[in-house]
Amino acid sequence: MGPESFPQNIHLRDGSSATLLPLKPGDMDALQAFYRNLPEEERLVLKDDVASPQWAKSFHQRLETGEVISLIAMAGDRIVGEGTLYRTFRGWTRHVGEIRICCHQDYRRRGLGTSLAANLVKLATDLGIEKIIVQVVANQLGARKVFEKLGFHKDAVLPHHVMDLAGTKRDLIVMANDVSQIWAAMEAINQDTPLHMGD
Ligand SMILES: CC(C)(COP(=O)(O)OP(=O)(O)OC[C@H]1O[C@@H](n2cnc3c(N)ncnc32)[C@H](O)[C@@H]1OP(=O)(O)O)[C@@H](O)C(=O)NCCC(=O)NCCS
Repeated sequence: MGPESFPQNIHLRDGSSATLLPLKPGDMDALQAFYRNLPEEERLVLKDDVASPQWAKSFHQRLETGEVISLIAMAGDRIVGEGTLYRTFRGWTRHVGEIRICCHQDYRRRGLGTSLAANLVKLATDLGIEKIIVQVVANQLGARKVFEKLGFHKDAVLPHHVMDLAGTKRDLIVMANDVSQIWAAMEAINQDTPLHMGD
């Protein structure tokens, strides 16, 4: 799977559709607008401060070096979801990729998060990444479900590692996959959440 696989139209569970495509450096303003529209309490428990100009600058740089691969989901001319694969080319985690996903509130529970995640997993495995991780706060039930369905399991728990707006501390769960098992899980999912429906 590579750039030639996109744009990709996906059917969502409610009968609507969205288009997945790679984020281009010129789309950064639209991406930040998408993140700024998230409710603050959700935005602040994302790992990065996605509304800040510093985050946008660093994300943009890593997009250009290939350390970041970002897929956006468009409904018309609006971004309704984004998923990122982070990787590094050097150091002892050069075989590891990390995925993060986020969907617009109006587009949740329709299979969009699963489609974004499944496509990023496929991109990662096609790039030769051997281990994929995702960091999930214990109460992010949707995220846990999406990645469990894709064959991810709990790899580590960092107790009280995340503090929300109200000062409540929550456990951070690091989920990881077993790449050898991932295709079976993806195939099962594919039956009700297609990765794509063609042009
Ligand atoms: C996590 C997130 C991307 C999921 O997106 P989504 O499009 O709603 O996910 P899907 O529709 O593909 O749902 C996948 C499964 O999770 C379930 N699910 C989704 N949200 C859920 C929730 N809040 N509670 C319980 N189950 C949930 C769905 O019912 C579905 O299960 P099913 O296939 O058995 O019916 C979305 O909730 C989100 O953007 N959350 C805020 C950001 C975040 O938490 N990111 C995670 C950091 S990696």
